[in-house]
Amino acid sequence: MDVGRLEGEAAAAVAAAASSAALAEVESAVLGKRGPLALAHRQLGSLDPEERRSAGQVLNEARRRLEALVADRRAELAAAERRAALEADRLDLTETRVVAAPMARGHLHLVTQTQYELEDTFVGMGFTVAEGPEAETDWYNFEALNIPPAHPARSMWDTLYLDLGEPETVVLRTHTSPVQIHLMEDQPLPIHAVMPGRCFRRETPDARHLAVFHQVEGLVVDRGITFGDLAGTIETFTGAYFGPGIHSRLRPAYFPFTEPSAEFEITCTICRGEGCRTCSGTGWIELGGCGMVDPAVFDAVGIDAGEWSGFAFGFGIDRCAQMRHGISDMRALIENDLRFLRQF
Ligand code: DAH
Repeated sequence: MDVGRLEGEAAAAVAAAASSAALAEVESAVLGKRGPLALAHRQLGSLDPEERRSAGQVLNEARRRLEALVADRRAELAAAERRAALEADRLDLTETRVVAAPMARGHLHLVTQTQYELEDTFVGMGFTVAEGPEAETDWYNFEALNIPPAHPARSMWDTLYLDLGEPETVVLRTHTSPVQIHLMEDQPLPIHAVMPGRCFRRETPDARHLAVFHQVEGLVVDRGITFGDLAGTIETFTGAYFGPGIHSRLRPAYFPFTEPSAEFEITCTICRGEGCRTCSGTGWIELGGCGMVDPAVFDAVGIDAGEWSGFAFGFGIDRCAQMRHGISDMRALIENDLRFLRQF
């Protein structure tokens, strides 16, 4: 038999094996019990002793060389396969990539930014932040706030009703004041909280009003709270949020849920108090309402008005954004014109 040729063919098959699995097949075909080398070994028995020894030696040497070839090829293939597996698993952890057009990045809407800044300002003054539902029963939006059915004060809020239950029993809240009621029902006293949220009124939008808008409500209920605490809180907030030179003033007003009640105004941010078209020459801009919590409201939630007193306030978040940034028409906030929105 031609051991040289056999070894040559086997070596070529080993080198050609393209994967560990293929190599394992070649190995058992060439070096296995049914392979040509094993067959040749079995045939040694028919030779005479002298020839048998030298032919046996040739066969054993060929087998050792082939075994070494297989071992080398196995290591080579294993390394290549490991490299391929790692490459397939590779994660691109590069943070930035240089690309032709950098990806556009969005940001929070101006009203959301304004809400967060207002919350931060009040949190800095010791308030907590709470939220309430946008759909309310008549009781939360009106009755518990000392506005009984058919009360003339209801005309202060043009109300949108939901088609749920009995007619006109479920409303889209017209202000954030009902969250005061939820808080007083649910939380232990004292309360020092602000409540931002979306409100709805049946109203035609104009330069200073939207039908869907945002308010932030404030409520403090504690022992010995006075009107002086209310005025001081409003003035501290005004300076903290609008900056130095902008002040507040309170003017008598009527709200059913506070007694006494006031409108609160701040220095006009456009003319800084000089008088301009925006503030109709007065130097002041109305931001919202406030007052001492009416005992009738405490009654509605079972709080003893002899032991506790409190103040409340509420004002427009969209109006704040308008004042801070000198936006002449509030409708720009909801028109989604990116040229407008990108400025903030
Ligand atoms: N809820 C009132 C409104 O939307 C604003 C308001 C006035 C809130 C006086 C108050 C308050 O908490 O005390 O017109």
